[in-house]
Amino acid sequence: MHYSIVPGGVLKGTIQVPGDKSISHRAIMLGALAEGSTLIRGFLPAEDCLGTLKAFQEMGVSISIDVSDPTQVHVQGVGLRGLKAPLASLDLGNSGTSIRLMAGLLAGQSFSVTLTGDESLQKRPMRRVIDPLKLMGAHIEDTDGKPPVTVHGEAQLKGITYALPIPSAQVKSAILLAGLLAEGKTTVIESAPTRDHTERLLTAFGYPISSHDKSVSLEGGHAFRGMEIQIPADISSAAFFMVGAAIAPDSNILLTGVGINGTRLGVIHILRAMGADIEIKNQRQYGAEPVADIAVRYSPLKGIEIPLEWVPLAIDEFPILFIAAACAKGKTLLRGAAELRVKETDRIATMVQGLERLGITASALPDGAIIEGGEFFGGEIDSHGDHRVAMAFSMAALRASGSIKIHHCEPVATSFPNFVAVASQAGLNIKEEK
Ligand code: S3P
Repeated sequence: MHYSIVPGGVLKGTIQVPGDKSISHRAIMLGALAEGSTLIRGFLPAEDCLGTLKAFQEMGVSISIDVSDPTQVHVQGVGLRGLKAPLASLDLGNSGTSIRLMAGLLAGQSFSVTLTGDESLQKRPMRRVIDPLKLMGAHIEDTDGKPPVTVHGEAQLKGITYALPIPSAQVKSAILLAGLLAEGKTTVIESAPTRDHTERLLTAFGYPISSHDKSVSLEGGHAFRGMEIQIPADISSAAFFMVGAAIAPDSNILLTGVGINGTRLGVIHILRAMGADIEIKNQRQYGAEPVADIAVRYSPLKGIEIPLEWVPLAIDEFPILFIAAACAKGKTLLRGAAELRVKETDRIATMVQGLERLGITASALPDGAIIEGGEFFGGEIDSHGDHRVAMAFSMAALRASGSIKIHHCEPVATSFPNFVAVASQAGLNIKEEK
């Protein structure tokens, strides 16, 4: 399946993007480990999160999706030690968050389970979670450091203190989730802040957890009860429209109910530093998570050197930020982002290749890129099966001189199943074709 986008267009109106992917995964996982029922509203019914949901069903958890509203999910929690061995290995599709967090969550259970996924997931590094889990006493086998991985339960885990060698919320969360079943105290120390949704959701469930400066700690073994969770709209999905409105003259949009957790705000810091006109309105809380409506109007952008401390706070937004940089006056420099090379694709390579195809001067660095602002031609792009690359190049059409065709767009369904409908409603001339 590919996208065909007619060049030009203006983004206008009020836009509701779907629920946050990171929080949707965590809501299913913690809802399953809670005692009693959890009602999730604003769930992201996309392939990645549905993969997590199905995996917990296969481990004996009763989970139902509301027939008339797939963003409402009921989870009947089984408690910390109530999961059952699945009949077969668990296929987590394209989702790095599912496999990494579940490796931690399952490390102290009483059964063995094999976790696997699609071709892309089978290329993604797992030692970053397996190494600290082994220090806790876990027995895990990997395939050359990658999935499939087999987590042999029946290990009595012990709490550890672990300093993260790379900024990664997935690694931090895997260790904390393993810590729920460990003896004693588990502490994770971060050198740079990463998304803290696991910590916030545990706190919301009433699980005792403490944060001091750069460290977060919990003691294993506390039971917690199910609750109601309202999930904000995903700022990583909103980011495509923020950039679209910032680069398309006359645009003026309002994104509603978007999560504005400080550990996710890198995209707003970077766009504002480039000269974007972004207003955060009507701030409020959905449980432990802050949300707001975000207004974005067109305004000319300039290239910047992206401050290193913003990189982990915008780690999923670089595909669309590369499009913003290509529309900015002057040069944008990104460093400190080697992690982009091990996402759903090598995002430095796939983005630089696509930008060059559309006539932009860009060069890849081992840990980032240099992008010169310019004019997009029309052309054909291969997303290489990366959802965020496909959506990013769709927005480039707003400023292109010819049509853009993007190949291999099926994986957009992993994070933003109604992207074409929402983007069309906002003013992008996009069509999905077989
Ligand atoms: C995520 C953390 C990030 C991010 C991913 C989701 C999470 O990965 O890229 O899309 O939900 O914890 P890392 O923690 O590996 O950087």
